[in-house]
Amino acid sequence: MSQEFETETTTRAETAGGDERETTAAETEVISLLQRAYLGELSTVVDYQTNAVVLDGLLAQEVVESLQADVTEELEHARLIAERLSELGARPPSSAEFTAGPESLRPPEDSTDVASVVRGVLDDEEAAIETYRDLVAAARDADDPVTEDLAVRLLGEEESHREEFSGFAREFDES
Ligand SMILES: [Fe+2]
Repeated sequence: MSQEFETETTTRAETAGGDERETTAAETEVISLLQRAYLGELSTVVDYQTNAVVLDGLLAQEVVESLQADVTEELEHARLIAERLSELGARPPSSAEFTAGPESLRPPEDSTDVASVVRGVLDDEEAAIETYRDLVAAARDADDPVTEDLAVRLLGEEESHREEFSGFAREFDES
């Protein structure tokens, strides 16, 4: 688990010239985080879809249904992020910039190893939550309430996914 740092708030009274550069840097950070979030969402779509198809066995049904529902939600997240990037005059990245999701989310060799996929999903949701927390802070710094509002909404939905899969993880621990 990486350590969270609070984003330092700079005093705008420092210098008049410096103020403008700081704002630009904050806006650049917002774009960069939106692009990272976009790629993260699409990578999640691939891994959840793959695991939803690969998993089988008696224990898999509920997790598979949940993964399928999340695929739809994460794809919608990607669409919203792409639209926000466009509104900010930036382009969503292409697959050329794709980064791999967490290794723990690769489909398990044993297709009945549902617990392994649940752990992978928790790692993936944790990474998304961290990105959206960073985005909330960066959007606030950039005085961009629309992006901040989007980031808060997506953060809430990722936390809800994490909660759901934490429930599955508890069931596997107890069985
Ligand atoms: Fe998402």
